[in-house]
This record gives sequence, structure tokens and C-alpha cells, in this order.
Amino acid sequence: MGLTRRAPFLRWSFLRLAWGARNISRTGQIGDGREAAAAEYVLRESRPGDIDDVLAAIDRFAYEQSFLINVGDEKGALLDAAVQRANPAVALELGTYCGYSALRIARAAPAARVFSVELSAANAEIARRIWAHAGVWDRITCVVGTLGDGGATLDTLGFAPGSVDFVFIDHDKSAYLTDLQSILDRGWLHTGSIVVADNVRLPGAPKYRAFMKQHEGRSWQTVEHHTHAEYQTLLPDLVLESQYLGA
Ligand SMILES: C[S@@+](CC[C@H](N)C(=O)[O-])C[C@H]1O[C@@H](n2cnc3c(N)ncnc32)[C@H](O)[C@@H]1O
Repeated sequence: MGLTRRAPFLRWSFLRLAWGARNISRTGQIGDGREAAAAEYVLRESRPGDIDDVLAAIDRFAYEQSFLINVGDEKGALLDAAVQRANPAVALELGTYCGYSALRIARAAPAARVFSVELSAANAEIARRIWAHAGVWDRITCVVGTLGDGGATLDTLGFAPGSVDFVFIDHDKSAYLTDLQSILDRGWLHTGSIVVADNVRLPGAPKYRAFMKQHEGRSWQTVEHHTHAEYQTLLPDLVLESQYLGA
């Protein structure tokens, strides 16, 4: 593995993230157009209708062109395995970005309908272009909004009680627990539903982690996957995979 793959600090596009941090929380984008450039690259460099090739092109862009804040290939393999364990008919994701993880979920569960919630309309458009290119536009729906917007997005999603089999949480780290609580309050999960949360160590979601520890063996059973932050092997991260045991 090349040094710039291992050590993100050697890459300008990673260092540029520091400047983009405020942008990301406000607009969902880093601020230099890399997300739109990623979509152009994927449409140009990958075969239409080939999910594997589309995902490989996104990973290549993130390693070789500009660092992206996708879940990435290493943590993506953990996500794939959790999706396969859940075998969902309905999967919900919080945080679409360029549509990479939703595409992984759709690939790991070919019969699933995937719903992804995204703050940024621009990101939603980028993701939709990539999903259309991959041939899964009819299985993945992006809803622009947030679960904390007073109920509008929750109402738009409008799942029947107990109908959500899998949730991937990968958006605003401070909203992980409150948004999980909104999902629970609506009664969308069933016993056996699986919830995966990314970035629990980096940048960190300590309240979410503490909640899962506190409810371990009662309403939740959690495995903590020790892994690395996306697209490098220097910075450690944690992915939590939690099975709902019921209220
Ligand atoms: C880390 S990225 C998601 C990466 C994506 N899951 C992937 O792996 O391909 C976080 C995304 O969450 C979005 N976001 C931030 N706060 C949000 C919120 N409260 N609800 C929904 N999306 C949000 C950002 O705009 C950004 O696109």
C-alpha cells in the first residue's frame, strides 16, 4: 500500500477538509466542488449498470483524486456484512453524501428498498445521478431533509410500524442518538432490526455509544467493530452494529 494511502496527512485533499469542516456541517459539501467532480468521474470512468464498477470508481476517486467522506471500502465491508445479516426488505440511511453507502446497501440486499435522508439538495442530486448510472434509481430514494426538522421528513418517510429492517446512521454526529430516538418513537423498528453507526470514534458520537452500552442486553445488543477512518489505515475508528431486542 502506498504511503499516501496509509497516511492521509500527506494528501492535500485530506488537509483541505480542515478548511471545509464548517462548510460540511452547513452545506454537506467540503466546498471545493469535489463531490460534483466525483459524479463526473464516475459517469465517465465506470460501466453503466455495473454497481461493482461504480463503487470501485468512487473508491478510486477518493484514493487518487480527492478524499471523500464516504464510509469507504474498509468500513464498507463491515456495512455489507451487517446488511446481509439483516437481509432487509426496507433499509433507511441517514446521511447520503454522494450515494456511496446507499449503493453498497442496495448491492448487499438486492431485494431491498433503500431510503436515504440527506440535508443537502445538491448532494441528493449528485447521489441520484450516480444511482441512475449504476442502474438502481428505482430501488433507492433520497429524501431531502432531516429527522430533526419538526416532523416533516419523518412524515414523508412514513414507514409502517415495525417495517424498517436496517438503519445506517452516518450524518451529523450530534444527532445520532436523537434521530435514533425519533425512529424508535415512531415504532419503525422490530425485534431483530439492525442499526449500524459509522464514525463513533472519529469524529465521535459518545452519547450514542454510551446509550448502546447502557442498554446492552436489554433493548440492544451491540458489537463494536474496531476499524479505520475512511480511505487510510492510520486513524482508528469505530463502527457500531446494534441489534434491536425490542422495547
Ligand atoms: C459522512 S457523510 C455520509 C456518507 C455516506 N453515508 C456514504 O458513506 O456514502 C454525511 C452526510 O450527512 C449529511 N447530513 C448532515 N447532517 C444531516 C442531518 N441532520 N440529516 C441528514 N443528513 C445530514 C451531510 O450533508 C453529508 O452529506
